[in-house]
Amino acid sequence: MATPNELLADIADVGVVPGRGGYHRHVFDRAETELREWFVGQAGARGLDVRTDGNGNIWAWWPGPGDDAVATGSHLDSVPGGGAYDGPLGVASALSAVDMLRAEGFRPGRPLAVVVFAEEEGGRFGVPCLGSRLACGSADPQRALGLRDETGTTLAEAMRAAGADPELAGPDRVNLPRVGRFVELHVEQGRGLVEHGSAVGVASTILGHGRWRFGFTGQGNHAGATPMDDRRDPMIPAARLVTEARAVARRFPDARATVGRLRPVPGGTNVIAESVDVWLDARAHEDADTRALVEELSARARELAAEEGCTARVTEESYSDTVRFDPEVRDELATVLDAPTLPTGAGHDAGTLAAHVPTGMLFVRNPTGISHAPQEYAEAADCTAGAEALARVLRRWSR
Ligand code: GLV
Ligand code: MN
Ligand code: MN
Ligand code: MN
Repeated sequence: MATPNELLADIADVGVVPGRGGYHRHVFDRAETELREWFVGQAGARGLDVRTDGNGNIWAWWPGPGDDAVATGSHLDSVPGGGAYDGPLGVASALSAVDMLRAEGFRPGRPLAVVVFAEEEGGRFGVPCLGSRLACGSADPQRALGLRDETGTTLAEAMRAAGADPELAGPDRVNLPRVGRFVELHVEQGRGLVEHGSAVGVASTILGHGRWRFGFTGQGNHAGATPMDDRRDPMIPAARLVTEARAVARRFPDARATVGRLRPVPGGTNVIAESVDVWLDARAHEDADTRALVEELSARARELAAEEGCTARVTEESYSDTVRFDPEVRDELATVLDAPTLPTGAGHDAGTLAAHVPTGMLFVRNPTGISHAPQEYAEAADCTAGAEALARVLRRWSR
């Protein structure tokens, strides 16, 4: 029987960013592949029946009578330089919960599954929750297979290199249709549970969120030979857009706008860039607010570009509506676990599944409140409490 922390300790060295700490685990890269193999081994050791769907999502089944299965799981990929818990804690807790149930001789009254979703962070191909979206039929497989990573490799090529057949990408007709309920456990990405004084909480909503690429184009030129008044430098509107994003977001209730990634081309210290791509992550509770925020910023981007003799082109790369978790599931979990409910600003595969099956989410307290950074943390005792809570939900739902 393994605790979540014992399982996390097993993979603590996989994909560490040298010299900085944190993890770089992008879907189908060497580190994430090693984690997948680790998961398959752990599932096999527990006698679970492992199947990978056409989208790289791994399902580990504990057989039980009938269909109407109960599934739980999360992801193993990370953002660049992410923490140890975002994703892996949900997977480790699922395995640990299975151990608890097996140890008490539990026999599920319906099938139980532990699932690892692919590319939850969209860290490699840019679209978050890509594996769950494809499986649920809410992402177009042809478009997805053509998505490229930083090096120009397409998802189809990455799948082939990982031994998967891209022809099989698309709606999952084998595993998902059997699922009657889904629950994901995740480290909290904020200090809500610290304030509540609770180790475990239940999700109420997920902020609607999306990603947009603002492409500014100007004239590449020489940094020394080009007078300041004779430039069409796309870095200028790009830089101004970054500060505008903060100013505009402040005008919408509880909205967030972030530029965490920017790419000047060709990217030389003594080169005025010919183009700059700026990626915007924008979120708000009301989808209309997110839309209005991005529209306002897009108009502003075009003005800023024009002032510098540049052009701006805005492309939506992904969007996820605000999720309101099934109120019956939410209230049941909160009552059974005697846990507070709280909203989150972070996206999750559970948000994708919530549109298809009754879904709930559990959070585990994070004393730093930090996530997507090496300081992300959860105490071992809280992780064990989370796995126990998850086991309780699985026991209750799969009797
Ligand atoms: C995933 O963690 C996201 O919300 O970006
Ligand atoms: Mn994340
Ligand atoms: Mn996550
Ligand atoms: Mn020169």
